This record gives sequence, C-alpha cells and structure tokens, in this order.
Amino acid sequence: MDILFVGDVVGSPGRDMIKEYLPKMKRRYRPHITIVNGENAAGGRGITEAIYKQFLEAGANAITLGNHAWDNKGIFEFIDDAKYMARPANFPEDTPGTGLVFIKMNTQEIAVINLQGRTFMPPLDCPFKKADELIAIAKKRTNIIFVDFHAEATSEKQAMGWYLDGKVTAVVGTHTHVQTADNRILPNGTAYMTDVGMTGPYDGILGMEREAVLHKFLTSLPARFEVPKSGRKQLSACLIIADDVSGKAKSIKPILINDDQPFLDE
Ligand SMILES: [Fe+2]
Repeated sequence: MDILFVGDVVGSPGRDMIKEYLPKMKRRYRPHITIVNGENAAGGRGITEAIYKQFLEAGANAITLGNHAWDNKGIFEFIDDAKYMARPANFPEDTPGTGLVFIKMNTQEIAVINLQGRTFMPPLDCPFKKADELIAIAKKRTNIIFVDFHAEATSEKQAMGWYLDGKVTAVVGTHTHVQTADNRILPNGTAYMTDVGMTGPYDGILGMEREAVLHKFLTSLPARFEVPKSGRKQLSACLIIADDVSGKAKSIKPILINDDQPFLDE
C-alpha cells in the first residue's frame, strides 16, 4: 500500500498546485491512496464544499483538516455528508463530522485519522487517548492506519510518533507549514515525519503575504494576514510505502516541488 500525503493546501495558490501536480504525482508515484490536508484551502482559512469536491476530482481519496476546520461557516452544512473528510477527532463528543474515515481501494482498506495537538493550541480532549480509542476501532477492519497529527509543538508531534510506533502505519505532522527533514521508520514499523510542509505560496511566510507578517513582527501591532494572489508556488508532500498485510511502513520519502526543486516531467 503506497500512500501519498499532501500537506496543508493554502488558498488558491495551493489549489492551483493540486490541480497541476496531483495528476502528475499520481502518474509518477502510482499511490494506492492520496490524502490531502485541506484545512487552509479556502483563502487560508477552512474549506468549502466546492473545494472538497475539487480535491476529490483532482485525485484525492481523503481530506484531513485541523484547527481551521470551522473557519468557513458552510462547513456545518456539508461535513456530516463528506464521507471522505476527517476533522480533528479529539473535539468534544457530538462535534459535527468524524475524525476517522475508512477508504476502500480495491480489496484493501485504509483508516485515516486526524488529531489535533494541545501544546500552544486551544484546549481539546487528549489526542493520545483519542488515538488509542480510534485505533482499536480501526484495527477491527484494517492494519493500515494513517494519522495526520495537526499540531504546533515538535515535541508533542514526536511524542505522538513514539506513542503510536507499532500501532499505526504512519504518523505525519501538519500545521507548522515547513517541511522537516526527520522522515524515518521508527523501530516498530511506523513511518514518522514531524511536518510534511505546506502547499501554496513559495515566497510568503507560512503561506501568507510576508509584508503583513513582517509588519506584525516589527511593530507588535495586529495585522490581517492574507494569502498572496500571485507569485511563485510550492507543493509539499510525502510518500509512504507500507506492507499490505501487517500495515508496517517500509519507507517514507519527502516530496517538495518548487522553483528550486522543480518536478521534471519524464
Ligand atoms: Fe493549522
């Protein structure tokens, strides 16, 4: 089972990258399943139903979210019907949507779990205990379990990786928007990477116009961050190869597409 995971798609530049490169990546890497984090896909904040459908049309099989899941009010209109979308599972009981989705590919099934961290982030239920709960449910159906851990602190992400080592196929971080170079297979067979990185503007700051971010740093005054409408773009992703039966990962490879690391058509 080969899993392609694309990190936080930011605004229209990110969506353009998905449209252009997802089909090319699928041709090159031939993943069995493609997962996209779409929590920043609508203008940098949240996701709309139209964008959710666009991602599926472009070749995504599952969409994960994060702390911005609720930024677009329209989410409440479609989240309960979006059967390929996982929002952070450790929100309180009765929160709309689900944090665990199953995707069937031919005879295989993969469980996709989305969790949100609590360090330097709003309080939520314990992501570690919620992970245990969902893994027990998922294991009844499949050994192939992918976890998108949407968290701020590198320590909390590493802790989750070690906590779930041997219990899931992969723990890959999102939210901090910068791809880390620590991709590895942990001793009990879980693929781990602290952050897969961001898909969107290449010359902004974490995907936002850099002028506003710089202004905030220089003046300490509030600033409104917007996604740049033009300029160079990037895509951040990773490819995980796992054993079909045991669900243990064999490799995890980072993918970056930008002007400095162009995707060369073969
Ligand atoms: Fe986030």
